Amino acid sequence: MNDTFLKVCYGEKTDYTPVWLMRQAGRYMPQYQAIRSNIDFLTLCKNPKFAAEVTLQPVDILGVDAAILFSDILIVVEPMGMRLEFSEKEGPVLSEPVRNKSAVDKLIVPEIEQDLPFVLETIKILRKELENKVPLIGFSGSPFTLATYMIEGGTSKNFVNTKKMMFQNSSAFLYLMDKLTDTVIAYLQAQIKTGAQAVQIFDTWAGILTPQDFRIYVLPYVKKIIKELKKTDAPVIYFVNECAGILGEIKKCGADIIGIDWRIDLSDAIKKLGKKIIIQGNLDPCALFLPKEKLEDRVKDILWKGESARGHIFNLGHGILPQTPVENVIALVEAVHTFSR
Ligand code: CP3
Repeated sequence: MNDTFLKVCYGEKTDYTPVWLMRQAGRYMPQYQAIRSNIDFLTLCKNPKFAAEVTLQPVDILGVDAAILFSDILIVVEPMGMRLEFSEKEGPVLSEPVRNKSAVDKLIVPEIEQDLPFVLETIKILRKELENKVPLIGFSGSPFTLATYMIEGGTSKNFVNTKKMMFQNSSAFLYLMDKLTDTVIAYLQAQIKTGAQAVQIFDTWAGILTPQDFRIYVLPYVKKIIKELKKTDAPVIYFVNECAGILGEIKKCGADIIGIDWRIDLSDAIKKLGKKIIIQGNLDPCALFLPKEKLEDRVKDILWKGESARGHIFNLGHGILPQTPVENVIALVEAVHTFSR
């Protein structure tokens, strides 16, 4: 079993820097497309056999040091009572957005074993299949990022509806955050209990907030989740996209590991986070379009900067893009392993 990733999570020294990639399973891979050509995305997420197969593809093809459960952060909104669709053009579409107290009243905190059995079944299959390979990472969206999708009804540019609800009806907004926080705690606890060996909380949209608003509307909820998860052994990674302006706040969340996007120099991020934090990141996903030598230079730079943190897990600053050539991703993983030794 390659436990390099877990060792770094626990603050231990390793022979090389472990690497996994956000969205490491997905459309850039022909083997993923082959499965997706016969099955729509949500059905794939709900089919444990196929979801497990897709999770394993990057482990075998890329040689990464961790597997991440194949699912989506939005899977929890259905058992909460919302309708979810993925349109090829628009991405996720949630009908009847949640914008007032009575809409929040109707939302249910799911019973994970009963309402999301396929996620737990996928984890069980994966732990068996991964026995002699790499650790399994579980994940959830953060309450705030999930709230943005529920309030906007999908992806957004300016998040006007989210901020309007925050500022004009903050009791209803915080009521939604409370329900989502309880949901995320139950969801991640169930994943860990079933076999996820670490978990990542994805906060894709928290970077749209001012530091003050992050402190009031996001931080207490993330802190509560992490405090509950600390009762387990599983390390927690907290990733905020566009984190640079709020690292001072993010630092207070209690996570063992903080994920960093690519818009900040890794040395600056480490300075802001201090010596107690293990960092994950932070290659620009578009660096995978560079010629090999230039990609390698960037890898060396990030590895070198990562040395000054308590620990470093190599990753991209956000998910792999669908246009990415697989051979470049293989070269990236090789470069991280070779140059960090
Ligand atoms: O990282 C992995 O390999 C595990 C699988 C995973 C997916 N989504 C699969 C997926 C994970 C961890 C996610 C998280 C996720 N989903 C986030 C947080 C991370 C981030 O990217 O910021 C968010 C915001 C979502 C919501 C979501 N899912 C959107 C906006 C979209 C449409 C845009 C897009 O990239 O297609 C999805 C769809 C999605 N989730 C796909 C995959 C592989 C593409 C679906 C397809 O096959 O067409």
